Amino acid sequence: MAKISIDHDYCQAHGRCYARFPALFDADEEGKAVVTGDGTLPEATEESEITGVCPEAAITVS
Ligand code: F3S
Repeated sequence: MAKISIDHDYCQAHGRCYARFPALFDADEEGKAVVTGDGTLPEATEESEITGVCPEAAITVS
């Protein structure tokens, strides 16, 4: 099952991920993204929709 993850070395706190997908991402105290829950990609969601939301390419699905 595909899992969403964040590379914290690349995340620059743009916030697009948790603005667009609030059920999948949350912000830490610095505004950087964290994956909520177990990070499972929802069935109705395309991998490219998730990864494409981040301008820093910090989100991966594998
Ligand atoms: Fe970080 Fe990209 Fe989200 S920079 S806050 S993972 S849109």
